[in-house]
Amino acid sequence: MKNIDANGHVRGESLFIDDILIKQHTLHAVVYSSPVAHAKDLIIDVSKAEKIAGVERVFTAKDIPGDNEIGGILLDEPLLAEDELHFQGQPIAIVVAESDFIARQARALIEISYSELPIITTAKQAKEQGSFINPARSFSMGDVQKSFDECDYVFEDDTFSNGQEHLYLETQGSYAEKMENGCIKLMSSTQGPTVVQRIAARVLGLAMHKIEVDVTRLGGGFGGKEDQATPWACMAALATYHLNTPVKLILDRHDDLKMTGKRHPYESHFKIGLDKDLKIRAFEVEFLQNSGAAADLSPAIAERTLFHATNAYFIPNVKTTVHSCKTNLPPNTAFRGFGGPQGKYVIESAIAKAADQLKIPAWHIQKANLLKENDEFYYGQIAEKVESINTWKKLNKKININRLEENIKVFNDNNSLLKKGMALMPICFGISFTNTPMNHARALVHIYQDGSVGISTGAVEMGQSVNTKMLQIAAQTFSIDPELIKLETTNTTRVANTSPTAASATADLNGKALLKACNALVDRLRHVAADELSVGVDTIELNDGWVHVNNNKQTELDWKNLVFKAFWKRVCLTENGHYATPTIKFDKSKEKGHPFAYHVYGTACIQTTIDCLRGTYEVDSVDIVHDFGKSMNIGVDLGQVEGALAQGIGWMTMEEIAYNDEGRLLSNTLSTYKIPDVFSIAKEINVQPLVIDAEKQGNDMAIFKSKAVGEPPLMYGIGVYFAIANAIKAFNPNYQLKFHSPITPEKVLMGLYEKQKSE
Ligand code: MTE
Ligand code: MOS
Repeated sequence: MKNIDANGHVRGESLFIDDILIKQHTLHAVVYSSPVAHAKDLIIDVSKAEKIAGVERVFTAKDIPGDNEIGGILLDEPLLAEDELHFQGQPIAIVVAESDFIARQARALIEISYSELPIITTAKQAKEQGSFINPARSFSMGDVQKSFDECDYVFEDDTFSNGQEHLYLETQGSYAEKMENGCIKLMSSTQGPTVVQRIAARVLGLAMHKIEVDVTRLGGGFGGKEDQATPWACMAALATYHLNTPVKLILDRHDDLKMTGKRHPYESHFKIGLDKDLKIRAFEVEFLQNSGAAADLSPAIAERTLFHATNAYFIPNVKTTVHSCKTNLPPNTAFRGFGGPQGKYVIESAIAKAADQLKIPAWHIQKANLLKENDEFYYGQIAEKVESINTWKKLNKKININRLEENIKVFNDNNSLLKKGMALMPICFGISFTNTPMNHARALVHIYQDGSVGISTGAVEMGQSVNTKMLQIAAQTFSIDPELIKLETTNTTRVANTSPTAASATADLNGKALLKACNALVDRLRHVAADELSVGVDTIELNDGWVHVNNNKQTELDWKNLVFKAFWKRVCLTENGHYATPTIKFDKSKEKGHPFAYHVYGTACIQTTIDCLRGTYEVDSVDIVHDFGKSMNIGVDLGQVEGALAQGIGWMTMEEIAYNDEGRLLSNTLSTYKIPDVFSIAKEINVQPLVIDAEKQGNDMAIFKSKAVGEPPLMYGIGVYFAIANAIKAFNPNYQLKFHSPITPEKVLMGLYEKQKSE
């Protein structure tokens, strides 16, 4: 089935927040934010701003009737600054006016005074000064110290991976309306409708049932709207609460870049120990996560980093520690992979370092350590249905790694100014929220008396086509024409207490809840049919819009008639399905357990060519064998792989977030922050589904055995970093491998002409 939004998107008919036809007397809000990264004794003067004609009001922290606290995990973040300022771009006031233009003019007239405090911008500085979000966490297995002593080789180094701007096409925004009895309805571009509902209720001092959050779709989220869509919705709600008129608040791109957090930069230190046979015996990492000025989702992201620190490898002795370092940057947040990519970058750097020192290709080490069935992940889960070696083998069959390497050598020997490099990139990604209590979902299904169907779930459509998958589940279970089914908006009054659309688990969680609801309805309808046809219920099947009996004999009774008969017989045609992932658990006191329903595997091979005069490069090809399980929509899933890969390549090669020492975002426009375009994506992308055994394929914990796909393929992009580094090495044997991403053309150029270090 094609994406059900495709036509609407292409014609520009799909609705986003800014497309909502606004009501009469709607007011427009803009946010005034901190010009400094760290200060105290804040005094705000909004009198000049409020005098501008057309300005309704300017709100500050003192206008908040409830709690000025919006932290989701830790209560450490004010909606509007009170006495202290903690980052440039921190919201201080909301200007509400007749038009956006007037609101902006008035915003420029707000005056503040403060006393400046010292600023921390890097994780390392924060650690030195003991500035942390929460206590550090460590996972371990075996005895690293002892085994380092026994290893034949031990290498260590520092790594840095930079942040990443989400750059969703639709910026953050919300539209708030006052309803009857003091209720507020919020249209929000959020991945977490319930988060918005809960926090807006807290800020306004209202019960949750007074806040309704409605989400039609997002113009992209990528994690950036899991937690950080909340403040803007709360601000619109606050203004509506006081003014009784609808209020629209949409950040322009510049404000969005400045005020919102990004992927966390990590500074890390690794130590890796190997034996002569290239088996990794021991691995130790200290991760310093640059969390920004408040917790946001940082502790959860730090946790996922630890879970993915060994990527697709089995290592018997591991110790990892992560510090969430508090700095004076906007609070960093979820971004596709949720800390997993940062973890994988370090183990891949460690392998690259070892390979470089041992003068062998890194893939020899990768291959020698791939996970096998029943290996223990160092957090206690036993690896089941492991596809690491299978994806590697299938890829090798297609591309022949040895021959490829020879071809590259021949090319490099024959070309002085162009050099090629390649790298392999296996991935292994755990599916489930690592916070076990979040792994549940609900779906509400109505069959209307004319046979049409309306579906509500907790899933938010943000381009990943989850609604298409939901529709497929219902269409397949009812065995009816998809045209009869409509996906409703995601709304907290229809489906309550939802977990955010995140962790790639949305289709699994909501899909399984939906499947349960549909199955319950099918069961009811089969009883009605049996009654009508005077046959046993066991023989009844719904098939292609018709009732069938006795092994698929079509009857005279079709879906629409059956539904109408059921309605007339006063059978309930509504069902609410609930699903909670079984078997998962994690014991934080021991840091051991079985946190993931299953893992997603895959292997990529990346080839690049660099221009040794200019330092520029191209990604020639990315060949991937990916474990989709038994994909329920291969078109959608291939789109996810390609999109995620593009984002991974961007993160590793060109997207360079830069803050200066004052905590000012320098890469604050799209002319200074480069995202991948059609020219920087691989010239060729070949994605092959792993199919080993059609019968055993997939995992029952995945909806229809179709594995989660949203985040894992981003991590194939990490291989591009090492492919480029290998090409530099081919030109300049003196080049010392560095683990400092993104590997921009400037860095490539410096690497190409780096001189040997004199001892
Ligand atoms: N694809 C598109 N087009 N737009 C998005 O915002 N977000 C990604 C991924 N794919 C995203 C996307 C992220 S961060 C996640 S966690 C998953 O989709 C969430 O959706 P899923 O659980 O349905 O895979
Ligand atoms: Mo995705 S980072 O889990 O929203």
